[in-house]
Amino acid sequence: MIELTDVVRQYRIGGEEVRALDGVSLRIESGQFVSVVGPSGAGKSTLLHILGALDSPDSGSVRFQGQEIANLGDDAQSQFRRHSVGFVFQFFNLLPTMSAWENVAIPQLLDGRRLRQVKPKALELLEKVGLGNRADHRPSELSGGQMQRVAVARALMMDPPLILADEPTGNLDSKTGAAILELLAAIAHQDGDRAIVMVTHSDAAAAVTDRVLTLTDGRLGADRLLVAEELSA
Ligand SMILES: Nc1ncnc2c1ncn2[C@@H]1O[C@H](COP(=O)(O)OP(=O)(O)OP(=O)(O)O)[C@@H](O)[C@H]1O
Ligand SMILES: [Mg+2]
Repeated sequence: MIELTDVVRQYRIGGEEVRALDGVSLRIESGQFVSVVGPSGAGKSTLLHILGALDSPDSGSVRFQGQEIANLGDDAQSQFRRHSVGFVFQFFNLLPTMSAWENVAIPQLLDGRRLRQVKPKALELLEKVGLGNRADHRPSELSGGQMQRVAVARALMMDPPLILADEPTGNLDSKTGAAILELLAAIAHQDGDRAIVMVTHSDAAAAVTDRVLTLTDGRLGADRLLVAEELSA
């Protein structure tokens, strides 16, 4: 579904050059729940940003469902992001003055739809993440785990083929984090046409994914498949 070939992203600070990604090639298939691990500064977030067209590589190719997205113009890039990618962040990034369902609906509002039109879908997604009974709560009235469920529902609002999560359990206790991981795994596996790529510092979190990619100094090291994939022939 998404294929990176020889992707390089470098930053120059002062006279010093940092290769955040140093020739990364990899392929991610739909239905896969993939984790990315590695030390701080290894390039994990940079990789996620490039996968989500939040950033462009200096060289190399990024193909998404066959289409080159490495060097899209600003408009095409934001269109791509809005329709093809859902993001989940460590600190949830919910709007504090909006209710849970309104937060879930936001991506559709950015796409020009009206709140009233998209409410049924937002409520349906809140049901799906186990929060049907919290739809009218503000973020401040929710627990961390519940806020992250709202963020997962929001990431699903545009029905994107790719979900990117940067440390989604980093701010949750281990039990709450485990429930979020279970939810993400279910989403990747139930809707077999979706892939989830998650950056994590937690070995326990990586262990529940299907595949673990290790990044070190901008280079891809180990690439371990943890679960034998069911190939629907
Ligand atoms: N906007 C930027 N300008 C300059 N250097 C950057 C920028 N973003 C990242 N870097 C550098 O690129 C390298 C990779 O950063 P990145 O944020 O991808 O690491 P990471 O693996 O996500 O680390 P962490 O686990 O701490 O979040 C680091 O050396 C970082 O300092
Ligand atoms: Mg990071």
